Amino acid sequence: MNLTYLRRDHTIADQLVAPFTGEGAYHGSTKKRVPRPQASQAPIVDEMRPTTMTEYPVEAHRPIASFTPTFPNVYEIVDTLSPPSQEEIRADGTTFVWCPFELAETVAGPLTKRVLAAMRAHLVGDKRYVYVDSKIQYLESGDVPVDSQHWHVDGSVVARGPAVEALGHSLVHDMKARFTATASPRYLAYQSSHHCATLFITEPVTLSLPELIPNFDALDASVRALDPPAIEQPAGSIVRTDGRSLHRARAAVRAGWRLWIRVVETDRQVELETSIVECYNTVFRPE
Ligand SMILES: [Fe+2]
Repeated sequence: MNLTYLRRDHTIADQLVAPFTGEGAYHGSTKKRVPRPQASQAPIVDEMRPTTMTEYPVEAHRPIASFTPTFPNVYEIVDTLSPPSQEEIRADGTTFVWCPFELAETVAGPLTKRVLAAMRAHLVGDKRYVYVDSKIQYLESGDVPVDSQHWHVDGSVVARGPAVEALGHSLVHDMKARFTATASPRYLAYQSSHHCATLFITEPVTLSLPELIPNFDALDASVRALDPPAIEQPAGSIVRTDGRSLHRARAAVRAGWRLWIRVVETDRQVELETSIVECYNTVFRPE
């Protein structure tokens, strides 16, 4: 069964809507109802190695220390395509979850194909894998494209297991590892529309943060307290970011269709075990 893409007609009547809870940290949410990609058979690569966890063995019984990272907040507009019509977005058809780039190029709809062609020119090409994620969503005013509006980074280093459980968590993001690792995933992100733009921070930000965090609550609170300059990703633009680029979703300010595409260059192999593509296309509505 193919788990990495879904081709179907999109209509306003068929748009999946779920209550907004704020619990979904990002696309690969830790919530039970949004199964995560599994990579249990894949080797841990340097880019995703939770190196800080070695300082917290099961028997350590030590509190989680803080550190003071500077997020460089790489955000570069590398291309801008003319924004598509609402009908072009609705009719594009195919959406992707961790789909290999070459496969996505062959099964994408015409609009996504154009975006991928533009992105191809900006791939660096030094990582083992290139994956495509995308969403076609009809958002009513106030709807959010993911179940969180928290500031976060993509591709965080995640740890699980007995040492994590000894800290009282089922999962932690090893934030310090993202700042000590020599390698980071790289991203190209596209969004089509004026009514629901991702917010990106555009200047370096230094803040105090626990080395290990169970979710993005503490990071979000610290960023909001600092209130650094942020901009909306322009409609039709392709931006380059990396694993230390702070960004967050915003609620739609008007109703309309939106196409979002993200390409990641990574050494991490991801093979899905369950279907999450429909979760990707769901919109989240505050009650
Ligand atoms: Fe994100």
